[in-house]
Amino acid sequence: MKVGDIHYRSIWRDAATDEIRVIDQRWLPHEFRVVALDTLADFATAIRDMWVRGAPLIGATAAYGVARQMARDPSDESLATAYHVLHATRPTAINLRWALDDLKARLMPLVPADRASAALARADAICDEDVAVNRAIGGHALRLIEEIAARKGGEPVNILTHCNAGWLATVDWGTATSPIYQAAEAGIPVHVWVDETRPRNQGAQLTAWEMAGHGIPHHLIVDNAGGHLMQRGQVDMVITGTDRTTATGDVCNKIGTYLKALAARDTGVPFYVALPSSTIDWTVSDGLSEIPIEERDGREVTHVYGVRQDGQTDWVRISPEGSPGGNPAFDVTPARLVTGLVTERGIAEASAEGLLALFPERRPNR
Ligand code: MRU
Repeated sequence: MKVGDIHYRSIWRDAATDEIRVIDQRWLPHEFRVVALDTLADFATAIRDMWVRGAPLIGATAAYGVARQMARDPSDESLATAYHVLHATRPTAINLRWALDDLKARLMPLVPADRASAALARADAICDEDVAVNRAIGGHALRLIEEIAARKGGEPVNILTHCNAGWLATVDWGTATSPIYQAAEAGIPVHVWVDETRPRNQGAQLTAWEMAGHGIPHHLIVDNAGGHLMQRGQVDMVITGTDRTTATGDVCNKIGTYLKALAARDTGVPFYVALPSSTIDWTVSDGLSEIPIEERDGREVTHVYGVRQDGQTDWVRISPEGSPGGNPAFDVTPARLVTGLVTERGIAEASAEGLLALFPERRPNR
C-alpha cells in the first residue's frame, strides 16, 4: 500500500543491493524508518522485538532469515540452527513455524550448494503469494460489506477492528483491512472503529496510521468502547485477524479479541476473522489448551510510548513504580463466537467441517 505517493510492501528485497529491507514498525506513526536485515541475529531480533510483527509478516521475515543464513553457510547444521533460532523468537503466530517447515522441507533434499538460491527464491515467492492471498481474502469479505451497504442505502458501513491486521502485518493489503481498502476503492462508504489495542497499541499506532494514509474515515477508540458502540447499533460488523486458528475454528488473536467477540454475540453483530490458510494449525483442535500464549514484558503495560509536548518521542510510566505489569499478548475466541472465517478460498463456517469443506486436501485418510 502507499506511504505518501510511494508504494511499499512491509518487507522487500532491494533490486539494486539485494538487501532485505523492512519498515521498522517500532517507531510508527511518529517516524517512518526502513532498516536492512542481514545476519540471522538481525532477523531474530527484528521478529522478537517487534520491528516486524503480525503473523504473515513474521513468517515472511523468517523465510528471508533462513535464506540469508544459507548464503553464509548452507550446511545441515546451519539450517537446523536457523530453524531453531527463528522458531524461538515468538511462540503464538503459527505462520512462523509454517514458513520454517516449508523452507526446511524444500532445502533438506538439496545439496548444500543449491540451498541459498532456492531459499531466496522461496522467500520471494512466499511474499508474492501472501500479497495474492490477502487480495483474495479482501475480495471475499468485500461481499459481506456490499451486502450491509445495500441494506443501509448509502449510509457508511461501520466496521470495528482490533490490533493491526493491516498491510503492515502482512506483506501487503492486510487480512482484516484488505476488504476495507477494496470497499473504499469500489466507492462503498465505510467507517472504521480502530481499537487502540493496549498494551502495544497496534491499533493506535499502526491501523490508525494505515487508515489515515489511505483516506479511510475512522475513529480511534479505547479498547473498552466496542461493547458500548455495538449496543447502540454503531457497529455493523467486526473483522479481525488471527495468529493461529485451530482445525476446529477456534481463533487465537491479540489480547482483547475474545471480549469483542462476546460483545458482538450479545448484540447480534457479525464477528468475522480474516486469515490466510498458512495461519491454520491443522495439528491443534482445542485452542484454549493447546496454543502457547506469549507472555511479554510487563513494562509494555506500565509504560506507554508517544510524543511528548516538546515534540520528542519517549516512553512514560503510567502506574505506581511498585506495580508490576501482567502481559498476556493473545487470547482465544472459541469457534462458537465466530460468524465466519474469511480465507483465500472463500468464507468458511468456524468449525472442523467448515474448514475441511474449503480445504478438502486436509481431510484425514484422503
Ligand atoms: O503482537 P502482534 O502485533 O504480532 O499481533 C498481531 C495480531 O494479533 C494480528 O491480529 C495477527 O497477527 C493477524 S495479522 C494479519
